[in-house]
Amino acid sequence: MERLGLLLILITILFNTQTLSGNELLIHDYYKEKCPLAEEIVRHNVGVALLKDPRLAASLLRLHFHDCFVLGCDASVLLDSVEGMPSEKQAGPNLNSLRGFEVIDKIKYLLEEECPYTVSCADILAMVARDAVELVLRGGPRWEVWLGRKDSLESSFSGANLFIPAPNSSLETLINNFKQQGLDIEDLVALSGSHTIGRARCTSFRQRIYEPKQEYHYGYDRYKRYTNFRRILGSICPVTGRDNKFAPLDFQTPKRFDNHYFINILEGKGLLGSDNVLISQDLDGKITEQVWAYASNEKLFFASFAKSMMKMGNINVLTGNEGEIRRNCRFVNA
Ligand code: HEM
Ligand SMILES: *[C@@H]1O[C@H](CO)[C@@H](O)[C@H](O)[C@H]1NC(C)=O
Repeated sequence: MERLGLLLILITILFNTQTLSGNELLIHDYYKEKCPLAEEIVRHNVGVALLKDPRLAASLLRLHFHDCFVLGCDASVLLDSVEGMPSEKQAGPNLNSLRGFEVIDKIKYLLEEECPYTVSCADILAMVARDAVELVLRGGPRWEVWLGRKDSLESSFSGANLFIPAPNSSLETLINNFKQQGLDIEDLVALSGSHTIGRARCTSFRQRIYEPKQEYHYGYDRYKRYTNFRRILGSICPVTGRDNKFAPLDFQTPKRFDNHYFINILEGKGLLGSDNVLISQDLDGKITEQVWAYASNEKLFFASFAKSMMKMGNINVLTGNEGEIRRNCRFVNA
């Protein structure tokens, strides 16, 4: 009886991973013969871009995330608007916020010169995110990127509004949001660690500063520190106006890809509401335990982050005859 139960569980797991990810369809050395210099060209040009503008590391990582959460990792996020089809770029979470498109354009241009019609935009996004994290001045982990994704024939404006989590989401909403993509709570926590680099606009964290004073169940000392933090944020981002002023997502070590994000949120000093609810709305203490583990062990965070990034990169990929390989990442082929 017990055996049968186990078998059923195993079948469920197998079945789920098959429907949720195309992992088994992606291949590690996909371009080895088709375009041997592809990975090298990508990595080199990510490095060049970061020399000019270090923040691009964050922006490029985020592009891959915003791609994968809408219709899967299929470069739908890169399409420009055409008549009758507003692009994902115009959607609330992306407008005036996503950056790094020119870096992708340049890499795509060089790859088309090297091996035309061969390297998909979706694969470029996955490789670029991986290299960006590693090439931050004090960089993060490297992970294996499996390749062979194809590019979508459409973008989804409404999907971007629906599936990309908002900074004022509740923990429950965030969890469900990730679950819809086949990602679990551990992935949510590890991937939120991306907010160890990059910046957010005032519009993304204003609500958190001026929301009605919340019950704080962590004692007076911590409450006072929290209030001071809000005062600093308030000086960057007043009740109205200055919408596009920036603050670093990780106040302590904004230029390092490290585990300081987790120390911050333990102290109530995450910049976004969605960072802080991981702790403040964690009723059974499981997430807090995971956050503590990452805060005290950077290696553990890096290992989990790498694992979750690979999982994210497999969401609903198009392979084989699905989709196409775009010539220009901004437009579907004629
Ligand atoms: C858990 C749910 C998440 C929410 C609600 C969220 C929300 C946000 C918001 C509001 C910003 C600032 C945008 C702006 O003001 O222009 C931001 C920035 C950023 N996010 Fe997230 N995010 C989440 C998860 C993730 C994940 C999973 C990743 C990567 C795998 C990621 C990577 C980043 C990075 C790197 C930045 C900085 C971008 C830059 O400086 O250009 N985020 N996020
Ligand atoms: C979150 O922010 C959006 C946009 O600013 C707003 O429309 C919405 O009411 C907010 N939701 C919550 C739960 O506060």
